[in-house]
Amino acid sequence: MEAKKKFYITTPIYYPSAKLHIGHAYCTVATDVIARYKRMQGYDVMFLTGTDEHGQKIEEKAKAAGVTPQQFVDNIVLGKGGVKDLWKLMNISNDRFIRTTDDYHVAAIQKIFKKMYENGDIYKGKYTGKYCTPCESFWTESQLVDGKCPDCGGEVKDAEEEAYFFRLSKYAEPVRKLLLEGNFLEPASRVNEMVKNFIDPGLEDLCVSRTSFTWGVPVDFDPGHVVYVWVDALFNYCTALGFMNDKYPDADFEEFWPADVHMVGKEIVRFHSIIWPAMLMSMNMPLPKKIFGHGWLLLGGGKMSKSKGNVVDPYILSERFGVDALRFYLMREFPLGSDGNFSNELLISRINSELANDLGNLLSRSVAMVEKYFGGTIPENRQPAAMDDELIGMVKGLRDKYEQLMDNFGTQDALSEVFRVISRANKYIDETMPWALAKDETKKDRLSEVLYNLVESITVGANLLTPYMPETSERILAQ
Ligand code: ME8
Repeated sequence: MEAKKKFYITTPIYYPSAKLHIGHAYCTVATDVIARYKRMQGYDVMFLTGTDEHGQKIEEKAKAAGVTPQQFVDNIVLGKGGVKDLWKLMNISNDRFIRTTDDYHVAAIQKIFKKMYENGDIYKGKYTGKYCTPCESFWTESQLVDGKCPDCGGEVKDAEEEAYFFRLSKYAEPVRKLLLEGNFLEPASRVNEMVKNFIDPGLEDLCVSRTSFTWGVPVDFDPGHVVYVWVDALFNYCTALGFMNDKYPDADFEEFWPADVHMVGKEIVRFHSIIWPAMLMSMNMPLPKKIFGHGWLLLGGGKMSKSKGNVVDPYILSERFGVDALRFYLMREFPLGSDGNFSNELLISRINSELANDLGNLLSRSVAMVEKYFGGTIPENRQPAAMDDELIGMVKGLRDKYEQLMDNFGTQDALSEVFRVISRANKYIDETMPWALAKDETKKDRLSEVLYNLVESITVGANLLTPYMPETSERILAQ
């Protein structure tokens, strides 16, 4: 038997510095949709998500809450309504969940850090600059925007410390080449931004250790230093496959690495498309095939974010509107690559118009008619007519269109295509008027053809909706 093709997809590992919001749910649902689609295509999928639990911000938050950092993150990750509960509620089909405080990960990071030190790509120096705590990012004076953090617009602090540095500068040219050749980073519009803003001005070596706080992976050969949270975090994609640890078999790493795609928000594309490949090059490891930088959900025109506090709780929305309705809205409303405004009104109107009216009515009308006119089984004698051709043509072409879009991260367009067929099928009911056919005994074969076409359209549609709305699709197919 031929081995199944492998597909490895990841979400960012989120900071459990506060409860996750709908922006995190958006990325995780999008990744879940792609993972489910790939499984449907027959791939052996590894879908990883998790939490990024170290760093100064968490340490400060825990202190303010009067608990240890470990207690603090345990509560947000494992507590009632926490990260794990949220993904379970939202029907996320991840195969693994990594926490960077897991022992196997911590030990692996120590080995990885040491390896880069031994190969000369990490060296000891002195750091002076600006630090943004919410973003866990160091900046040079010239990178600041109006004296503030260029990512979140927040205050930065002066920082000076003895620290280890990663020779990022050494990898500027190979990384530039990687970005400019092929399609490592998508959407393509992000490539220029990375090259122009970060590589062209000259890549500086990256500060990769801290001494100003302790909540991190200790550098085992130099007590007092902890590994920079981004080094700790990025390698999660490998340690979760058993790389440099015994938690999972080495075979997982051999089979699934390199990742097919890392799904990330656009604000962390820089880490994933520049720093991450450079560190992998230093480790002599294969590079991920693709970084996909999705857009932001905005609220009131600004990025929804934990630090701003302008967030919407996906837990509450799932409970109020249903998980599938929320998953549907997130995928239907926002094109993956761009930003979009989140709004409760739009959420409700999408649910009403497309889920309840278009899909719900098509299903209930069709099923009711098959019951009423044929006792639940459509007879085999059927009489086609020219007016069927448009719908049949659309249904026949749907899968190919859908796959082509899905294979290129067109999750919104693929979903629209399915709903185009659903609308067309509703129109077909109005055109064919099955209730009129049913009154005439001689039109029985025609009626059976019409209902057959409707049921077939629904079946094809529901199958393709499975990655988006797994439970709803299953219920439709059962009917
Ligand atoms: O950056 N709209 O974690 P994080 C859309 N731990 N997506 C959003 C969003 C919004 N308004 N807000 C957040 C980190 N996200 C690091 C990652 S990976 C090795 C380490 C999503 O908790 C989006 O995917 O700040 C973004 O990149 C991610 O959450 C950031 O989550």
